Amino acid sequence: MTKIKATNIKWHDSHVNRAMREELLKQKGCTIWLTGLPASGKSTTAFTLEHELVRMGYLAYVLDGDNIRHGLNKNLGFSPQDREENIRRVGEVAKLFADSGIITLTSFISPYRRERELARKIHDDAGLKFIEVFVDTPVDVCRERDPKGLYAKAQKGIISGFTGVDAPYESPINPEIVLKTADNSPKNIVTLMLDYLYLNGCISEKI
Ligand code: ADX
Repeated sequence: MTKIKATNIKWHDSHVNRAMREELLKQKGCTIWLTGLPASGKSTTAFTLEHELVRMGYLAYVLDGDNIRHGLNKNLGFSPQDREENIRRVGEVAKLFADSGIITLTSFISPYRRERELARKIHDDAGLKFIEVFVDTPVDVCRERDPKGLYAKAQKGIISGFTGVDAPYESPINPEIVLKTADNSPKNIVTLMLDYLYLNGCISEKI
């Protein structure tokens, strides 16, 4: 649980509201929350979709686990407490991005259901769409892919607390979307995601 230390603070309302920003951008801000095992295909999906959205004229931005850990979250490791704080911060940042009208993609293992639900709640409370996407790739496939060689290191005991080897991953119970990256190309997945965004009013047309 986050200890609240900020006191004597007061919310300052903006003169610009979300509807004005969405009108400017011709899109609806939302958060597409990709969760799954390491090497499941979260980042590939996020960056491919971001690219296609921008090509179509929409403003999208990826908050990626490895990238965010280079800056904002460089003081966090992989203990359960640090992962919790990692996801808490990203949930808050994603909410701000979505509020600004951006189609926000997050690509984090986010292994704990509770933290993902908290991220969902802050979006719900702000009236923002939160689209949880379970990148459902079997652990054997992830282990086989192992692009960073981390599964191999974890299996040899060189790193410990690695998700999918000796740290837990709690699958979503009721995600908006389940992606099977083992059976689908990134292009097919992007088409499926764009259909979802269109049908749910985040984008007005598929160009
Ligand atoms: S999360 O669990 O806190 O959501 P996050 O998505 O930010 O993780 O970071 C995962 C990335 O950190 C992986 O892609 C991998 O490159 C790297 N990493 C380093 N150590 C670990 C570990 N013990 N478990 C999982 N990923 C790790």
